[in-house]
Amino acid sequence: MKRLTNKRILLGITGSVAAYKGADLVRRLRDAGAEVQVVMTRGGAEFITPLTLQALSGRPVFLHHLDTETEAAMGHISLARRADLVLIAPASADFLARLAQGRADDLLATLCLASAGPLAVAPAMNRQMWSQPATQDNLQRLRQRGVHVFGPGSGGQACGETGPGRMLEPQEIVALSAALFDTGLLQGRRVLIDAGPTHEDIDAVRYLSNRSSGKMGFALAEAAVEAGAAVTLVSGPVALPTPERVTRIDVRAAEQMHAAVLDRAQEQDIFIAAAAVSDYRAAQPLPGKAKKQARLTLELVRNPDILRDVTALPRHPFTVGFAAETENVEDYARAKLRDKALDMIVANEVGRGDRGFESDDNELLVLWEGGRKRLPLGPKGRLARELITLIAERYGAEEDTAQDTGPAAGQ
Ligand SMILES: Cc1cc2nc3c(=O)[nH]c(=O)nc-3n(C[C@H](O)[C@H](O)[C@H](O)COP(=O)(O)O)c2cc1C
Repeated sequence: MKRLTNKRILLGITGSVAAYKGADLVRRLRDAGAEVQVVMTRGGAEFITPLTLQALSGRPVFLHHLDTETEAAMGHISLARRADLVLIAPASADFLARLAQGRADDLLATLCLASAGPLAVAPAMNRQMWSQPATQDNLQRLRQRGVHVFGPGSGGQACGETGPGRMLEPQEIVALSAALFDTGLLQGRRVLIDAGPTHEDIDAVRYLSNRSSGKMGFALAEAAVEAGAAVTLVSGPVALPTPERVTRIDVRAAEQMHAAVLDRAQEQDIFIAAAAVSDYRAAQPLPGKAKKQARLTLELVRNPDILRDVTALPRHPFTVGFAAETENVEDYARAKLRDKALDMIVANEVGRGDRGFESDDNELLVLWEGGRKRLPLGPKGRLARELITLIAERYGAEEDTAQDTGPAAGQ
């Protein structure tokens, strides 16, 4: 079965008799690996108690009203921004109408408006309500805006009638939700990613390193797998679990990372260098644990340049670098793109508390020869999926050019 590991799903439950299935849906979404935040409309809370959903989701349920405590921090905006998917199941006819009109008259409707991520609805209503032109018009408008419509199914209804309008079964909704993340954009491609910091030993117990957490590289590995790629992840020392279906190779120091990447780079279609590799290492690591001294001078030497060495290979993969900068981000990144002969560079500003190193959020500026795209501030998981989509597009475009002009060096 397709998985929803690490996906943050904001589950909206609205006023339909099918709301009771929401309990099973929460359980199944969690079994598939998702983190579920339930938000209920006034109607939804008439059909099933928030307590049940709170117990099953393991999180407080947010209700229709705007809660003063959550709102002190503009809670509805952060709830919407955190979600990888907003899923409304069941979606009542009334809620679909409000959604189609772009209303923000309760918490759930406001969240749908405030979310930039994907939105899916699983309609549930009596067959007559379903076939009304008003309902069908609303659905049509929502589809045109890119809203995913799951179902409905057809069959016996709670009102005793038979026909279309039944909410799909929870397991069908889980499968359709998981399929939204499996894009197939890199089907059959081999992708190599490096991630995390490196540790450069000073003595037997101390090392030089940096604040990279590895979260962005790991999120990219997960997104690349979902896009259908065979992914190898070369990771520096991080405290992160290996994403499913990813081959992981653990290394400590830059020289090991260099060897692990260079050994494999020629067989890859795409290489994404998301690791924060130390530029320097100690020329001569001290033996044992060095004793305190009044002054200690440490001589540093340059580490090998992984990116430069990969793009210098006679048959090198489509190569994407990262540039973490504290100022003049775009200028430095453009220079690095050219200097290292990269196909793409992903620039991010670090040293700000709300993004970049160690943070769950990031904001990226992606540059390539003749183009640029900004990926606005958001959770690293979502940004990783957007970045993988962009990489797949650019990789496809370069492949097309290579085919048009005959065999190109390096591709
Ligand atoms: C017993 C009962 C069952 C209902 N079932 C449904 C339903 O399955 N689908 C639907 O769209 N509306 C149904 N309704 C009507 C909605 O609950 C009503 O439109 C409500 O205002 C929706 O609220 P919401 O938009 O806050 O979710 C039902 C109403 C009652 C009294």
